[in-house]
Amino acid sequence: MPALAVRFRDRLPVSDSTPLVSLGEGGTPLVHAPRLSEGLGLDLWFKVEGANPTGSFKDRGMAIAVARALEAGARTVVCASTGNTAASAAAYAARAGLRAVVLVPAAGVAAPKLFQAVTAGARLLEIRGSFDEALDAAQELAGDDEFVLVNSLNPDRIEGQKTAAFEIIEELGAAPDVLALPYGGGGNTCAYARGFDESGELPRLVAGEASDRAVTAASAIRIARPAHQADAEAAIARSGGTIVSLSDDEIRAAWRLLAESEGIVAELSSAAGLAALIQEAGGSGLRAVCVLTGHGLKDPVISTGVVAVQVDPDPDAIREAAR
Ligand code: F0G
Repeated sequence: MPALAVRFRDRLPVSDSTPLVSLGEGGTPLVHAPRLSEGLGLDLWFKVEGANPTGSFKDRGMAIAVARALEAGARTVVCASTGNTAASAAAYAARAGLRAVVLVPAAGVAAPKLFQAVTAGARLLEIRGSFDEALDAAQELAGDDEFVLVNSLNPDRIEGQKTAAFEIIEELGAAPDVLALPYGGGGNTCAYARGFDESGELPRLVAGEASDRAVTAASAIRIARPAHQADAEAAIARSGGTIVSLSDDEIRAAWRLLAESEGIVAELSSAAGLAALIQEAGGSGLRAVCVLTGHGLKDPVISTGVVAVQVDPDPDAIREAAR
């Protein structure tokens, strides 16, 4: 499949002079969920954004933001991150021959995301503070010429991420009735709203946030002050949608239901969209697309309660243990 910047060229801020920086982002599966549809009283589809090159939706926006930074003559990109943005920035910067400096809170970021960032050659700095403080610092750094900010406050990130809405409409033939997704900083909510608005059909946006934002176990959305709060909440209201505040137990229950019912292991934060959807639209019969923002292998440090059973390599013993 051609790169996003080629497929949606006329709807993205790219021109003939913009270099192509692509790792094959976008074109992610839209998977129908027959068992959950039946169980929840919905016509439910999942947009599996964990299938992007670094395992999260960030790659759509990063491809465009890094290409534009390269076009502008940048040498170094900087971001604050709960992990996924860092992994994506590192990969796309490497691809473009740029340096990446990634700022993460010193505690609580899932190890595989740090592994991705470091392996791709980013300078990883653990900030003694929260994500919100790291973002403030990144914004200040981006005030001088040395660093280009590739957080979603960079409008090119939102532009790239809006392409997921185009793909959903392409595949379903129309926007769904409801679009559900996790709400961290709100950049992705704004991106979907823009993509659907530009296509002339905005579905009801149902956004799931952690009720205790600062300490949730869903580390990707551990964000106390959403940077896009005003725009995201205005778009949700305009769509006739809503924000659902979720306990960690509710997010975990949706995460497990998704994996056990449909075989899709997403990261814990991604399940906030499904948990919100169940509360808001369960039983409605509506067509809903739920965005699964990151791959399950990104954040495996979850106590699943699953204990492996050891058994000898003996068919009878295995038959017995498999009951
Ligand atoms: N889901 C995942 C897996 C994320 O990594 C994020 C944000 C979100 C949802 C929330 O998206 O902020 O646009 O509302 N992750 C950022 C990061 C903060 O640094 O990787 P949002």
